[in-house]
Amino acid sequence: MSRRVPERGAAELLETFGVVPQIGTRQRTPEPKTRERINRAAAPRRGYARPGYGWSPAAAPLPVYQASTREIGGLFPLLAASPLPAVGARIGYDVLSGGAFYCHPVEWVLRGYATNPNIALFGEPGRGKSSTVVAMILRLLNFGVRTLISGDVKGEYTPVVKALGATPIVLGGGSSARVNALDLGPLTARWDSWSAARQRTELEGVLGRWGQLLAALAESQGYSPTVTDEAAIAAVLRRLVGATAGATRLSPITIPDVHRELADPDEELWRELRFADRRECLDQLRSITDALGNLISGTLSGLFDAPTNIKLDWNAPVQSMDLSRVRSRGDRVVAVSLTCLGAWSSLATDLRSDGQIRCVVRDESWRQLRLGPRAVAAIDAELRLSRLEQIIQILVLHKLSDLLSVGAMGSQAVAIAKDLIALCSTRVLFGQSTHVADELAAALGLTRPELQRLVGAVNERRGRALWKTENHPAHLVQTVLSSFERRLFDTNAQLRPRSGHGRQHHGR
Ligand SMILES: Nc1ncnc2c1ncn2[C@@H]1O[C@H](COP(=O)(O)OP(=O)(O)OP(=O)(O)O)[C@@H](O)[C@H]1O
Ligand SMILES: [Mg+2]
Repeated sequence: MSRRVPERGAAELLETFGVVPQIGTRQRTPEPKTRERINRAAAPRRGYARPGYGWSPAAAPLPVYQASTREIGGLFPLLAASPLPAVGARIGYDVLSGGAFYCHPVEWVLRGYATNPNIALFGEPGRGKSSTVVAMILRLLNFGVRTLISGDVKGEYTPVVKALGATPIVLGGGSSARVNALDLGPLTARWDSWSAARQRTELEGVLGRWGQLLAALAESQGYSPTVTDEAAIAAVLRRLVGATAGATRLSPITIPDVHRELADPDEELWRELRFADRRECLDQLRSITDALGNLISGTLSGLFDAPTNIKLDWNAPVQSMDLSRVRSRGDRVVAVSLTCLGAWSSLATDLRSDGQIRCVVRDESWRQLRLGPRAVAAIDAELRLSRLEQIIQILVLHKLSDLLSVGAMGSQAVAIAKDLIALCSTRVLFGQSTHVADELAAALGLTRPELQRLVGAVNERRGRALWKTENHPAHLVQTVLSSFERRLFDTNAQLRPRSGHGRQHHGR
């Protein structure tokens, strides 16, 4: 059995070998207090009450997520995240899963999630439609997507445009800016570079759009053009632009030119239109001529009745056409202005040659749709081009009946309206009253839970909407505005006390 030898220290050991130990006499350096121990003592239950101690995954103050029991159907880690790709503008969060929600309409098309990049937003006034559009366009700027606001009726985009260093184009109310609704625009510049066949196709397309625009404008005057009127408009447009003579150059035209030709037809025109004589031609075309005449002397005067004298800055991140000064001239003038601007800007954006993706925002386009089925048809024609031409069209509407009320005028109009909805793959549905929601659910094929959210959860906060892309399950998304965006785009600014010390409503 071995006896345990008591342990000896280093000094004792050295003494055994005759070495005078220095160690014992040396001052022992105390162990540093902060020495890292391998098995650290666990932190107290509530952590150390000192900065830098304890473990926290997020910077204080901690973000607090609030939700009703209706929204929290389970615990976050167990919920499936959004199946949408995390690409593009980060709009906010998916209310049901808590995950971030991203939107890039062109990527959605490329990845087969949508068939076109267009977006229609529906919702009652003040729900946050325009704010969501602003959040989207500002955040898409990082992905090289620039935007044209085709008609800013309330002038609310002006601070956004100015903050980005661009200048909005102001129309009406003493401004000298004119936009020719029948502007050839980029067509003239690119004409010579096209083959004869391409020239013919492009010109046909443009003439078709102009015909639809003029018919929509005539309808805004309470006159529904007949097929004879449409044939006459088409013939006049061809003659004026120089398409009939096989011209190598196109002549610029304006709406007053079209009116003049209809009011004073020459023999060639009335013969081409197969009227017996000039008298018959004048009598048959009197209504359409007067409708255009009234527009020129009233609604369009000083806005869309002369050659374009403004130049769009295609390099500006966001460019807008401010119509706020036109507002005092009444709803119809606003609607007609939006129609003319829509036609002009869609041609301008379609034929630009920079090859970049653009957003064209048609805020308040419900006003335009109220003009009648031909206005719907005009937008329909403009949207059809967007997929080919890398344009994201964003339409802001109130309710579906903006589109379907025109259905009272015929089943063909309902078909056009439904077509128009189909041309917007993504529908963003903000708060609605029950009967409007029912209408939307039927037209967009919403499931029962989606409909319930549309009349319930969507209404709980501003900026909350159901994002439905074609037949995919809808996402309940809360748009989150940064304080900068909120300041820039405060459409309730006029309601607030000027001192800034008053009550603040922040959309809750
Ligand atoms: N996501 C959001 N978070 C906080 N506030 C919001 C949000 N969205 C909108 N708001 C606030 O709500 C107000 C109205 O929003 P907005 O103008 O976008 O509504 P709208 O649906 O476009 O209304 P309208 O149909 O009258 O044009 C704005 O003052 C805005 O700051
Ligand atoms: Mg708005």
